[in-house]
Amino acid sequence: MTNQNNVIKFYSGEQIPVELHKVRMVQKLFLKPIEERKAAMEEAGFNTFLLSTKDVFLDMLTDSGTNAMSDNQISSMLQADDAYAGSQSFYRMEKALREVFGKHYVLPAHQGRAAENIVSQAFIKKGEVIPMNYHFTTTKEHMELNGGKVLEIYADDALQIKSDKPFKGNIDIDKLKDVFSTYGKEKVAFVRMEASTNLIGGQPFSMQNMRDVKKICEENETMMVLDASLIGENAWFIKQREEEFKNAEIKDILLEMCSYADLVYFSSRKVSSTRGGGIVTNSKDLYMKMRDLLVLYEGFLTYGGMSVREIEAMAVGLNETCDETVISQSPSFIAYAVNELDAAGVPVITPPGALGCHIDAMGFLPHVPQTDYPAGALATALFIISGIRGMERGTISSVRDENGDDIPADVELLRLAFPRRVFTLSQTKFVIDRVKWLYENRELVGGLEWVEEPPLLRFFMGRLKAKGDWPEKLMAKFKEDFGESL
Ligand code: F0G
Repeated sequence: MTNQNNVIKFYSGEQIPVELHKVRMVQKLFLKPIEERKAAMEEAGFNTFLLSTKDVFLDMLTDSGTNAMSDNQISSMLQADDAYAGSQSFYRMEKALREVFGKHYVLPAHQGRAAENIVSQAFIKKGEVIPMNYHFTTTKEHMELNGGKVLEIYADDALQIKSDKPFKGNIDIDKLKDVFSTYGKEKVAFVRMEASTNLIGGQPFSMQNMRDVKKICEENETMMVLDASLIGENAWFIKQREEEFKNAEIKDILLEMCSYADLVYFSSRKVSSTRGGGIVTNSKDLYMKMRDLLVLYEGFLTYGGMSVREIEAMAVGLNETCDETVISQSPSFIAYAVNELDAAGVPVITPPGALGCHIDAMGFLPHVPQTDYPAGALATALFIISGIRGMERGTISSVRDENGDDIPADVELLRLAFPRRVFTLSQTKFVIDRVKWLYENRELVGGLEWVEEPPLLRFFMGRLKAKGDWPEKLMAKFKEDFGESL
């Protein structure tokens, strides 16, 4: 699993992921003193979403809309054709989607969750179930708003933190068969597969798994829907980890993956390093069921809520997703960070996946009960001691049940995203160093409690506070060890 094409070997024997791009435009960063970082975190209600980037050193919140764009993408924006209807920019994007995803009908949307809204409204009826490898936050909300129920049918060991299983994002085929026999095919709205399964550590599924899922869908005359937001990285893992594809081209892997799906939707904030989204299919019937909703919610069919400049860049970005040096950059830096942290005994999800390095907060902070939100606490502690902004992917990102009790997340993670071609190796080394320091000082970190808790998607806007004075103690220890150094 280490055969990564941008990993080079030094004369000393050390292996590092080398940047196969050069920097041609930069943004200045600020690393503020720890007192200012702590004050910023308090002001943000111990929620990294509420920080201002002026206080952030390395923004590892997400790769969504933050991947670096290429020179070709930026230059394509200048030829954008501003038109409400019939824009040439749209036709260029449509052509790219037809070529890269192999689907004829294209519905543009302003971002991934907008596509989820359309798909959920068009294809989910009250009381129906939607089996999938794992949910994504916005996906689940849209499905439930339309009366559907999400069934997660991953393999029993998919949530195991330390593992050498190459495809923890697979759907468990026996569980899928059970869903059809328990509910009957009429009650299954569709089967959803999410590429590089986000919430369980960016873990891919295999092509064989897609084939097996497709076969069962066909036997049950049920539609298969693919969330392709992180499809490029999943394709790259298939090439790395599935023997049959070791010599295949990424573009052929992508085409085969999409061929099994009746409908593909995506956030192009991720897949093509732009800002937007969309839905594609080869079925005119499916297209017609979504078309008018799209015009109602997103905009006319040739822009779907996106700027034409982004549409141009999306066309270029989609083609670049087929370039191995582009698509392997983030996973190889993630693998570097994960391997270093794992070797230092820090609990991280293995094998390394897509999107980010995922730290197991329950393993990191075993003394913080899940009711005190260890992943949220870890995200805030890391920001205070380093200016690195990660994202809580644990119980704060979950919901409450009908009695108002927290539903504890299956995994309690701090995600440190590696947007494509954004961070250098020295910045990556800084991340590794500060996470290791925090691990050595983990007993100083305590839990969080709510101050303001919104009822819907509470992790975005909710405000919390530290239980006790642990941030002060953590800051004091940092100053003891690092002196005046930032
Ligand atoms: N599906 C997946 C698998 C995603 O990861 C996301 C977004 C969406 C759908 C929704 O797309 O943001 O364009 O509306 N993930 C982001 C993240 C927010 O940080 O992981 P969107």
